[in-house]
Amino acid sequence: MQQGNGLQDKRVVVVGGSSGIGLAVAQQAASQGAKVVIVSSNAERIQKAVASISGGAQGHALDVADERDVATFFAKLGAFDHLVFTAGDSLHLHDLAATDLQQARRAFELRYWAALAAVKYGSPHIHKGGSVVLTTGIAGQRPQKGWAIAASVCGTIEALTRALAVELAPIRVNAVSPGVVRTNLWRNMNASERERLFESVGNSLPVGRVGEASDIAQAYLFLMQEGFATGQTIVVDGGTVLV
Ligand SMILES: NC(=O)c1ccc[n+]([C@@H]2O[C@H](COP(=O)([O-])OP(=O)(O)OC[C@H]3O[C@@H](n4cnc5c(N)ncnc54)[C@H](OP(=O)(O)O)[C@@H]3O)[C@@H](O)[C@H]2O)c1
Repeated sequence: MQQGNGLQDKRVVVVGGSSGIGLAVAQQAASQGAKVVIVSSNAERIQKAVASISGGAQGHALDVADERDVATFFAKLGAFDHLVFTAGDSLHLHDLAATDLQQARRAFELRYWAALAAVKYGSPHIHKGGSVVLTTGIAGQRPQKGWAIAASVCGTIEALTRALAVELAPIRVNAVSPGVVRTNLWRNMNASERERLFESVGNSLPVGRVGEASDIAQAYLFLMQEGFATGQTIVVDGGTVLV
């Protein structure tokens, strides 16, 4: 690991940091001395998230699907060290025959186009030695029936990660690919349905459980600090690809 790459006093911007994986990244980075800025669309959730981060954090309400607002936000924010993008909305999973193609296009808005906008407008402000960490998902490698669109988004992010690592060098660009993780992403299912899903997926995995946001966050912290890793996607999936 390149010396001096720890997170102490580094400024880390977490887009999607008010909940789930992003919030866990923000909490763990702050606990290692980073100055964290969390961004999400809902001011109330940001407030709660900021209050849960020991050592404090800044919060900004921003719909990252709005390119102009993203450009304005980064122009005002100034220099920083690491950009983490974990923003995501609920998944719409359908067999292809039942897929509304207009809605399917919208699946790319936040996870792909907004991530690209965040990198486009954020990366010019990243200090030397800094990095970008994007988010994909194991569905890209191990899709289930009904996951054609979600898996396509994941594959696109992995390709984007490699392309940006070449184009933005020496800024490093990596991604994390989680398996099923217990977060608000699954809030469009009712509570008992969700618990049944977590239990059945967990029981099918070599590790015997689904992931927690804190499990996945550690991969982001590794990638921010590992000065010799770029263009890579780290899989943290409890062994999903093996079963
Ligand atoms: N959980 C899983 O099982 C799993 C598995 C594989 C991959 N992933 C991926 O991991 C990423 C993080 O998911 P998660 O599980 O941590 O979900 P989560 O808990 O629902 O967090 C999503 C975050 O995105 C923010 N967000 C949503 N729309 C936004 C917008 N328009 N502008 C700005 N921020 C917005 C949310 O905050 P606001 O609501 O305040 O805007 C929230 O902070 C997603 O890309 C997801 O696809 C998750």
